[in-house]
Amino acid sequence: MKKKYEPLFDHVQLRNKTELRNRFVLAPLTHVSSNADGTISDDEIKYMAQRSKDVGLAITAASHVTDLGKAFPGQPSVAHDSDIDGLKRLAKAMKENGAKAVVQIHHGGAQALPYLTPNGDAAAPSPVTLRSFDEEAEHHAREISQDEIEETIKAFGAATRRVIEAGFDGVEIHGANRYLIHQFVSPHFNHREDEWGKNRFKFPMRVVDEVVQTVKTHADDSFIVGYRFSPEEPQNPGIRMEITEELVKQLIEKPLDYLHVSLMDVHSKTRAGKYQGQERIALLHQWIDGRMPLIGIGSIFTADQALEAVESKNIDLLALGREILLDHTFVDKIQTGNEDEIVSVFDPDRADKHDLPPKLWEQFYKGFYPVPRTDQQDPRSSV
Ligand SMILES: Cc1cc2nc3c(=O)[nH]c(=O)nc-3n(C[C@H](O)[C@H](O)[C@H](O)COP(=O)(O)O)c2cc1C
Repeated sequence: MKKKYEPLFDHVQLRNKTELRNRFVLAPLTHVSSNADGTISDDEIKYMAQRSKDVGLAITAASHVTDLGKAFPGQPSVAHDSDIDGLKRLAKAMKENGAKAVVQIHHGGAQALPYLTPNGDAAAPSPVTLRSFDEEAEHHAREISQDEIEETIKAFGAATRRVIEAGFDGVEIHGANRYLIHQFVSPHFNHREDEWGKNRFKFPMRVVDEVVQTVKTHADDSFIVGYRFSPEEPQNPGIRMEITEELVKQLIEKPLDYLHVSLMDVHSKTRAGKYQGQERIALLHQWIDGRMPLIGIGSIFTADQALEAVESKNIDLLALGREILLDHTFVDKIQTGNEDEIVSVFDPDRADKHDLPPKLWEQFYKGFYPVPRTDQQDPRSSV
């Protein structure tokens, strides 16, 4: 390895003292490749093992905690005890080479897909009509009832218990990307006049408490609990950095082991409000004040971009999304001094199809996600 890249391989301690062997994190990446019933597939095992091999921390695709929350075709399920056998195989494959493995626990809320949920249902903090994931037309999501809110909180706990039984090292609570937990925090989605609307942080904090309580009952202190959030929304009203500041201040008081910000560009700046123009990651660091590690992410495609992000932003942990899909040997190539051979462009003609599961490769092929590709101009500038 070239000496200059050594800082990327520093060990990092999570708040519960779990030691990660380097700063790289496999981002949670929906692969649409679990079996139709949400159990783990062979394609998924192979793909996840490849992408987990060299990172410090590996996070699974968003995995639904109830059937009503299912938001992707081929989404992994952590909603049933019958999922545990497959999850055991997945945990083993992800941990095999030394990464810590966590499951991202998720509920789609308004973005659940009625073509996949029982009775074509979808429920959200407030009624809303929207188009989600691969839908061609909009669907309606009704208001979730108070009883269902309580059941959903319990479901996050039950999912955590299954993840523990399957032998994973932790869970990441998916509070980002406009799914149910995010929707409760968001003034765009949450217009409720009851306690779940008056206090936009009540739902996320109750989920955190339920997960933490489950961990206390079923695991030991080494079990990791992380939380992912999106810091801003484009809508007005929408989540502003001021709301995220309050969210982070409340999360810091919980026994969480890391926070994870969902960004498309690690250097991105605040859009609006009191902090407009300031770098989001710098603000988050200011608020976290060294009390737990923050995972940063967004448009890292080369070794130098990774190094620059870690050094200029003091990033504790750096997650890789699209790049580790394009080249699952990214980390290994840096470690073995072969960073010049990193593949950072989607090539539809590659014989190995980037070692992606067929359904995910097809999504890339059809341009579902913005990635640099050999048959088009580089779209990174528009990300
Ligand atoms: C194919 C794909 C699937 C994704 N699935 C998830 C997911 O399951 N959970 C999640 O929190 N974010 C998901 N994301 C967002 C990524 O974790 C990440 O935040 C985003 O891709 C930006 O990082 P990058 O620039 O390194 O790709 C997904 C992104 C892509 C491209």
